[in-house]
Amino acid sequence: MLLTSRQQLLGLVSAALLVLHPVLAFAQESLFERDVLPVLTKQCLGCHGGLRQKGGLELRTIAAGLKGGKTGPAWKSGDLKGSEAWNRIASDEMPPNERKLSAAEKEHLKNWIQSGLPTVADRRKSVDPILKPGGKHDVRKVAATIDQHIQRGLEEAKLKPMPTIGDAEFLRRIYLDLAGRVPTAEKAAEFLDNQDPDKRAKLIDSLLESKEFATQFGRTWREWIVPPELPANTNNGGNCAGPARDLGKWIGDRVLKGGWLGQDRSRCLDGKRKLSERKRRPRVAARDLLSACRL
Ligand code: HEC
Repeated sequence: MLLTSRQQLLGLVSAALLVLHPVLAFAQESLFERDVLPVLTKQCLGCHGGLRQKGGLELRTIAAGLKGGKTGPAWKSGDLKGSEAWNRIASDEMPPNERKLSAAEKEHLKNWIQSGLPTVADRRKSVDPILKPGGKHDVRKVAATIDQHIQRGLEEAKLKPMPTIGDAEFLRRIYLDLAGRVPTAEKAAEFLDNQDPDKRAKLIDSLLESKEFATQFGRTWREWIVPPELPANTNNGGNCAGPARDLGKWIGDRVLKGGWLGQDRSRCLDGKRKLSERKRRPRVAARDLLSACRL
């Protein structure tokens, strides 16, 4: 008798937990970057992101999802039925493989569509004003704004900032970031022995003016615009490493001459967008992009 009532009690408690669980977990609205993108990345982007766009559908950005695929928009703000991706998820049609979405993942997507497709950036705008684009801002003000922004993110995630790193670690990281290599022993000794309190800022300035920075910058953009994982299959347009290298070198040269400004950048970004929309053969696409950037 005692056992039975205990069992009944346990049953009641777990039933209550089951009912409560979704309420507890989703009392907060779902946000794109935090709650939706991780699900899409895990479950959808393998077939609907970048080079693969099954059904003509790209899901990496909200804008692409709003545009949708052959059947219509993947997302429609506040409208579950009008969101083709939701219809396919709800019916377990997508993903087509065994690994269906869990109840919690579905709930995140549903909640996000119903709340009007909000992003972390949308919600943060009011509490965390970012400096207005277009104008020139005082460097210290920019640095303070970035610090403030990071501080808020850390507080929200309940994380403590790391202590400031030592000179040796700073030196290695800044060289790898800006020059793409570690410093020579001579340069390292020179920096570590230097007593100037502004030595970090001065090193950053001198690296930004170096040829190596320009090369590294060109390489970074090249890898982003023409990713190395593009197929190098001759039936599929051939290897695009040559034009990609040219593109990286050209960007590096422009940086060195102080010419990699807004217009160059937006032309390349525009070229990249067109490229992924048209899904050209990689070598042809890389060549087209190169001439688009160089216009
Ligand atoms: C293994 C590959 C694969 C995965 C993973 C996958 N899909 Fe698909 N998806 C397809 C294929 C193939 C089609 C085209 C055939 C069709 O319409 O059923 C498609 C079509 C769609 C369409 C219809 C596009 C249109 O407008 O016609 C939507 C919406 C969609 N998928 C959403 C999703 C979502 C959301 C996920 C992740 C939860 C996902 N898919 C995961 C392969 C995949």
